[in-house]
Amino acid sequence: MKRRSFIAGSMAAIAAPGLVGRVRAQPVFGGQLPIPPLMEVGEESGNRLDAIEGTHAFIEGEQAQTLGWSQDHLGPTLRMRRGRTARLTIGNRLESEITSHWHGLHVPGWLDGGPQSLIASGRNIEQALDIDQPAGTFWYHSHPHGRTGDQVYRGLAGLLLIEDDRADTSVLPSAYGVDDIPLIIQDKAFTRRGNLQYDDGGMAAMQGFRGDRIAVNGALEPVAHVPQGLVRFRLLNASNARVYVLSFDDGRRFHQIASDAGLLPAPVSRSQLQLAPAERAEILVDFSNGAEARLVSQDVPVQMMGGMMGGGMMGGGSDLEVLKVVVGGSRPATVSELPQEFSGAYLPVFGEPVRRREFRLNMMMGMGMMRAMFGGRPTFGINGQAYDMGRIDQQLRRGETEIWEISADMMSHPFHVHGTSFQVLTQNGISVDFAETGMKDVVWIENSAEILVRFDHPATPEAPYMYHCHILEHEDSGMMGQFTVS
Ligand code: C2O
Ligand code: CU
Ligand code: CU
Repeated sequence: MKRRSFIAGSMAAIAAPGLVGRVRAQPVFGGQLPIPPLMEVGEESGNRLDAIEGTHAFIEGEQAQTLGWSQDHLGPTLRMRRGRTARLTIGNRLESEITSHWHGLHVPGWLDGGPQSLIASGRNIEQALDIDQPAGTFWYHSHPHGRTGDQVYRGLAGLLLIEDDRADTSVLPSAYGVDDIPLIIQDKAFTRRGNLQYDDGGMAAMQGFRGDRIAVNGALEPVAHVPQGLVRFRLLNASNARVYVLSFDDGRRFHQIASDAGLLPAPVSRSQLQLAPAERAEILVDFSNGAEARLVSQDVPVQMMGGMMGGGMMGGGSDLEVLKVVVGGSRPATVSELPQEFSGAYLPVFGEPVRRREFRLNMMMGMGMMRAMFGGRPTFGINGQAYDMGRIDQQLRRGETEIWEISADMMSHPFHVHGTSFQVLTQNGISVDFAETGMKDVVWIENSAEILVRFDHPATPEAPYMYHCHILEHEDSGMMGQFTVS
């Protein structure tokens, strides 16, 4: 206990203003919401994604140096179909190494694009992904160890949608970019000259890097034009560390229809929705009365255990503007009534759990903390060990159901598992209603959680799967482990 308060005091003392990501009082809504181009990825060859350097004007008249997949910033939305093979060439036209990680996809370890699967500068790799999982909203991003935070922040990320004939989506809005709108939410910080600012040492690594402006699909606080009717938003929190609690400024309710890995059994009525880094949700919002609305988020403070650094100093209070929605698109809405049910929900099918495993996400790792206090990279870990590419942390068996119990140390963390989707059983010791959470691949560890998990694909020691905190600065500082499935 004594040690904790010592750390807390010291962290407070070195919290430089401006680094923590306080939010400006009055953002002005900017331009039109950009819609990432759609790329259908099927069996035919010829689809490419190239990691490139680019420039992007977040702020009018000022160019930021960015990264992107075949475009200046972020990447196209990939659309794949269940039961088909998705063929794709990944090229690396950067000087640094990258990987192509398919976040949420059930593919074997050697196709997963984890930190072991580096693509060297100038190289191309061919990928053939056999898609066999329910419809949902996923994403892809680079994942080289120690540099994931930097690369994702600059733009090496994009959305990935899976379509499934078993899901009758005719009752759901599904015209991409019209009434089925992707929203990639990220926070950014800028230098005086409009370039991106990023830091993954010191306080930024401790808390995770947070910017003071919100970009949606690469545009700051943009305006979306939607048809009068029911609109589906596919939300992805692609921020390095920021947690959003989203709601509409006029208090209107909406329905969540999907979480990370697919459709829920039925729509869930909500007035707000929390999205931790890497989490996804699909929501239906009724715009049939023609009134505009603003999507806002609470400025969620960094959540320290025991309330140590909650509120006050760490931000909190004012809302962040995310997106303004104006009714009156050029095309009509395809759906006007909220579907009471839809087919194709991702229902869990697990056997009896045969094993329990425990994972403790550690920030208290000796000298690592001291380095961070002097602006350096801290060392974080899981179960007392920092990530080591040469060490396999767990060995699992294909098809065996397990219960994983994850607990947090010092602050709350979003825990992500590669290669599968899981069901959350409890959070902070309280059981969770599956109907409201659905199948997931990221779980918010406020204090602790238990998940039910099973792997159906193999992962070898050369290309293992990862589990890690999806606060990218924590991951890059070692809060990650790797495992095989045989
Ligand atoms: Cu979003 Cu290890 O990944
Ligand atoms: Cu992942
Ligand atoms: Cu973390």
